[in-house]
Amino acid sequence: MDKKLKLLIVDDDNAHRTTLLTLLGEWGYLTRGAADGESAVALCRERSFDLVLMDVRMAALSGIEALKEIRAYNPAIPVIIMTAYSNVENAVEALKSGAYDYLTKPLDFDDLRLTLERAADHARLRDENHNLRQALAQGADAAGQIVGQSPALRQLMEMVRAIAPSEATVLVNGESGTGKELVARLIHSGSGRAKGPYVAVNCAALSETLLESELFGHEKGAFTGAEKRREGRFMAADRGTIFLDEIGEMPPAMQAKLLRALQEREIQRVGGDRAIKVDVRILAATNRDLEAEVEAGRFRQDLYYRLNVVSLTVPSLRERREDIPLLAAHFLRKFAQKNGKAVKGFTPGAMDRLLKYAWPGNVRELENAVERAVVLLMGEYVSEKELPPSLGAGNAPAAGAPAAAAGPYNRLGADFSHMTLEEIERAVVRETLENAGGNKSEAARRLGITRKTLLSKMQD
Ligand SMILES: Nc1ncnc2c1ncn2[C@@H]1O[C@H](COP(=O)(O)OP(=O)(O)OP(=O)(O)O)[C@@H](O)[C@H]1O
Ligand SMILES: [Mg+2]
Repeated sequence: MDKKLKLLIVDDDNAHRTTLLTLLGEWGYLTRGAADGESAVALCRERSFDLVLMDVRMAALSGIEALKEIRAYNPAIPVIIMTAYSNVENAVEALKSGAYDYLTKPLDFDDLRLTLERAADHARLRDENHNLRQALAQGADAAGQIVGQSPALRQLMEMVRAIAPSEATVLVNGESGTGKELVARLIHSGSGRAKGPYVAVNCAALSETLLESELFGHEKGAFTGAEKRREGRFMAADRGTIFLDEIGEMPPAMQAKLLRALQEREIQRVGGDRAIKVDVRILAATNRDLEAEVEAGRFRQDLYYRLNVVSLTVPSLRERREDIPLLAAHFLRKFAQKNGKAVKGFTPGAMDRLLKYAWPGNVRELENAVERAVVLLMGEYVSEKELPPSLGAGNAPAAGAPAAAAGPYNRLGADFSHMTLEEIERAVVRETLENAGGNKSEAARRLGITRKTLLSKMQD
């Protein structure tokens, strides 16, 4: 037995109870006795027991009554009933009332030992299933856990815990790759809607018409290609949560329609004329400064207020460097396992680079760097050799430097004289994308162009 199990022995026969207390103590249980049903029930309310062993025939409150009360209060404790050999009806009644098993008196000690062990296993299994279910309900399987111990991250997690159970609309701010999506999932799984659907929509990935039909659905024949009616993501999220990612990229006409949906909690399919009620909680995320977008006239102020009921900001990795070693180790384990490699850790030199780099692409960039290193690695420890060259000592911006410091021109200057304008543009786009950890929206933002323009420049 790894951990001592707490066992309550209930018997009104003092001699019998004392014998059992001594014997089971010797078997490795933490024992406690009760001389009648009432005190057994009271004890079960006061402290947690792993198992209860109880005589059925007791003066005041019968074992069956006590069993019912204990189970009403804590249905998880296995209760084993002891009954006289001549009184098997009692045993049947006990089982019907939820006893785990029964033993006949005089007790056969081998039988007793086996029954107790089985009951303990049963309880342990049930606990494990419970934990597993809870982990699943918390989305720990799909989204993975949030790794980090820094004060900045802890503060964020406290906020998440506080607001998750509410129905409030939440705007999640933060640079790209900081973990906004992870936070959104956590809010959903910490809410009363955890068992309902969680639907994520990337508002930047779709053209305006497609986005509207994606969100609200369309009627048959609403536009060319709409061969049958289709429900949108809002309907799919009914009784759950919808996560509107990259909300800052939403075209103005869509913003107006979304505002209506938020205000009325109803939607209208494209080509439809009927308003349909939906019950959804709304979470949104952006890596833009939405307030500045409002001022610049690119984002509707009324929509901003609707979304910004509660706002969270996921700190950049630069603001919580303490988390770098933890995250790096987490990703190392993950990708070592995925690639079937026995990786032991980082060399001091490699860790030094990870710690000094500015991580403009935040956790995602770190994750990518570690994955790449694991793939390249031949030995047991990741060294500087396996890290991306952009992390090299020469290119590392000073610790704490803002993302913009990792600007697009830091490695290109000298070559410009021999390049055509087009080549320079391509090089800058490539460099910026790399610096943004591969995040296209972020690269576009840094270059001051739209995501669409960036995509077209990447295709050139
Ligand atoms: N604290 C963390 N612990 C473990 N993994 C993390 C953490 N933060 C982020 N990640 C991982 O980093 C990657 C990027 O996170 P995520 O997609 O949530 O970022 P994001 O802020 O939504 O980025 P973007 O703005 O580019 O969409 C994901 O693979 C995510 O699992
Ligand atoms: Mg995201």
